[in-house]
Amino acid sequence: MSIAKKLKANRNRSLELTDLDRDRLRPRLISIERLSSDLRTGTIQADSLEIATLLPTGFVDLLILDPPYNLTKNFNGFKFERRTVEAYTEWLDAAIVQFKPLLKPTASIYICGDWLSSASIFTVAATHFIVRNRITWEREKGRGAKTNWKNSSEDIWFCTMSHEYTFNVEAVKQRRRVIAPYRTQDGTPKDWQVTAQGNFRDTHPSNFWTDITIPFWSMPENTDHPTQKSEKLIAKLILASSNPGDFVFDPFLGSGTTSVVAKKLGRHYLGIEQNEEYCLFTERRLELAEIDPKIQGLADGVFWERNTLREQEIRISSIE
Ligand SMILES: C[S@@+](CC[C@H](N)C(=O)[O-])C[C@H]1O[C@@H](n2cnc3c(N)ncnc32)[C@H](O)[C@@H]1O
Repeated sequence: MSIAKKLKANRNRSLELTDLDRDRLRPRLISIERLSSDLRTGTIQADSLEIATLLPTGFVDLLILDPPYNLTKNFNGFKFERRTVEAYTEWLDAAIVQFKPLLKPTASIYICGDWLSSASIFTVAATHFIVRNRITWEREKGRGAKTNWKNSSEDIWFCTMSHEYTFNVEAVKQRRRVIAPYRTQDGTPKDWQVTAQGNFRDTHPSNFWTDITIPFWSMPENTDHPTQKSEKLIAKLILASSNPGDFVFDPFLGSGTTSVVAKKLGRHYLGIEQNEEYCLFTERRLELAEIDPKIQGLADGVFWERNTLREQEIRISSIE
C-alpha cells in the first residue's frame, strides 16, 4: 500500500456498520403498524409516498425535502431514473401532495435540488406554498466537464405555509474574517471583535453559502451514502426555521442527517427512508450523537467559514 493510501486508511473516520450493529439497531426502527396510534421520534423504513396517509395530519413544524434529483442515481439498489422536466415536476408534485396535509399552518419547508431539478421545484412549490427564497450553496468539489461548465452549486428553496412562520436570524449568524477593520471615533472596533485568532464579524446569513463542505472520509459524520448532506447545512435550516421541541420531518432521510441534527439541536424528528442500510446508518449516527453532540462548523453559537477548525477549537477552549 502506498504511504498516501496508508495515511488515508489511518485517518479514515467514515461510519461503517458491522452485522452486529445491524442486528442491534434494526429493532429500533418504527414499525408501520404502530404509526397511526403512536407518533414517535425516530426512523421508518418505507416508501414515504405510500405511507404518508398513515401519519397524523398537522404535526410537522419543519419539512426538509432532499429528494432524488432529476438524475439517474443508484441508492444502494433503489435506482432513480432521470426523466423529462415535466415528468420530474409531476413526480415532485405527487410527493408534495402526500406530505402537505402533515404540515402545521405555521410550517416551513425547504426543498433541495440542483440547477435542473430547480426548474421543477419552483413550479411545484409555488402552487402549494409561499416561496420565500432560493439559497444557493457552493459544492467545493465537482466533476470537470469538457463541453459544459463544471457543476459546483446546488439550491435549497425556502417556502412557508403562511405568513406566520419561525425565522431565528440570530441563531444562524455567519462568523467572517474582517477585511476592512473600521473603528468608531473613539477607536473601538465597529461591529467586529478582536480575538487571538484574528478579527471577526458575525454577519447576517445570506442566500449564498460558500462555507459548506460535503462530508468526506476524514469527517466522522461521513457514510457511504452517495448524496449525503453535511450536518452544518441542515443545522442552518433547523436553527433558522424551528424552535427547540418542534417536530422536524424528512421523508427522504438518506443517511439520517436531518434526524441527527434535529436530535443534536433538541428538536423532535421523524424520518422515512426506503433503504434499510441507510435507516441503520441513521440509527447508528443517532446513537453516536448522544456521545458527541457537536456539529462541525457550528461553534460559539455561530457558523464559521470553511477550513477554520483550528480557530474554532482555540476559541471554544478559551471560553470554557
Ligand atoms: C438525496 S438522498 C437524501 C440524502 C440525505 N439528505 C442525507 O443527508 O443523507 C434521497 C434519499 O431518498 C430515498 N428515497 C427515494 N425515494 C424514496 C421514497 N419514495 N421513500 C423513502 N425514501 C426514498 C433514497 O433512497 C435516498 O436515500
